[in-house]
Amino acid sequence: MREQLEEIRSRALAELGAGATEAQIENVRVRVLGRTGELTEIMRRMREVPNEERPAIGRLINELKSEVENRIAALSEELKRAGMERSLGEARLDVTLPGMHIPRGWLHPVTLSRERMLDIFSEMGFEVVETQDVEDDFHNFGALNFPADHPAREMQDTFFLPGGLLLRTHTSNGQIRVMERRRPPLAIVCPGNCYRRDELSVRASPMFSQIEGFMVDRAGVITMGHLKGVLTEFLRAFFGADTGVRFRSSFFPFTEPSAEVDISCLLCHGAGCRVCKQSGWTEILGSGMIHPNVLRAVGYDPTEFSGFAFGMGVERTSLLKLGVDDLRLFFENDLRFLSQFRAASEAAS
Ligand code: PHE
Repeated sequence: MREQLEEIRSRALAELGAGATEAQIENVRVRVLGRTGELTEIMRRMREVPNEERPAIGRLINELKSEVENRIAALSEELKRAGMERSLGEARLDVTLPGMHIPRGWLHPVTLSRERMLDIFSEMGFEVVETQDVEDDFHNFGALNFPADHPAREMQDTFFLPGGLLLRTHTSNGQIRVMERRRPPLAIVCPGNCYRRDELSVRASPMFSQIEGFMVDRAGVITMGHLKGVLTEFLRAFFGADTGVRFRSSFFPFTEPSAEVDISCLLCHGAGCRVCKQSGWTEILGSGMIHPNVLRAVGYDPTEFSGFAFGMGVERTSLLKLGVDDLRLFFENDLRFLSQFRAASEAAS
């Protein structure tokens, strides 16, 4: 039996030489160590071994078993390492190459301005309500006291849609939509896109955005003084505490009295320059006390309720704030322009 063991051993070790393949190793493992393999067979025949020799033979079998097992483990390890090296060599992975740059986005300057504007109004207690872009004549014009023959209602100014609908020309529809379904007291701002049949130019765009604001309470509670206070507060928070604010009498069908609001020119601070046409002032928004006809149109009794409203262009306001001189820059999405607002975006978020 000793010779037999020696035979198994030398054959196995010869086959488990340095160049053995995975298949050869597996062959030896099954033949020698397998459930019906050579060593199992030997164990079964232990009964034939004389008692006094059994311990020695048993030790030999165990030694042989672990010798073959160790050899197989070492060879497998070696094969695995060689395989890995081969595939690394083939992939030619150059870990010194610079990584792929995945650019992260940031907010558009107009979005940043709009968020800032809404934040200021929110801090003053205004609630933000979004209303619809697709409107009917009543909510965009009729309820806002536009006479039937008003030029804004004409084809060359407004985008009309089939079925008597149109794209709102201002966010003033927000006043109507909100007041129709709610009762005072109200302090609301409505941001949103507006559309007019204008060519894209330095000063105008067929699509732009506005923020409408209004405050309504029992008649006489909200005065023109509150309108002045809210807007002055807002403009100084947005443009800087030393900004001059001026109210100029004006006209809108939906407010009476109406006022246009100017701020002192941000470039020359009132001294007069090319941008403000030497006046020292720049027009920034429209406002006024809500017209009694508008209140009637939403089912409010003008002797019971009154309030003010204002509306401003978000692009126009951003333009002045950022010192940008061409509205088109906001719509062209040229990264060389937009990337200048990255730091501002990161600071705001
Ligand atoms: N809707 C006006 C515009 O688009 C702005 C405005 C709103 C004026 C509310 C007065 C009151 O120019």
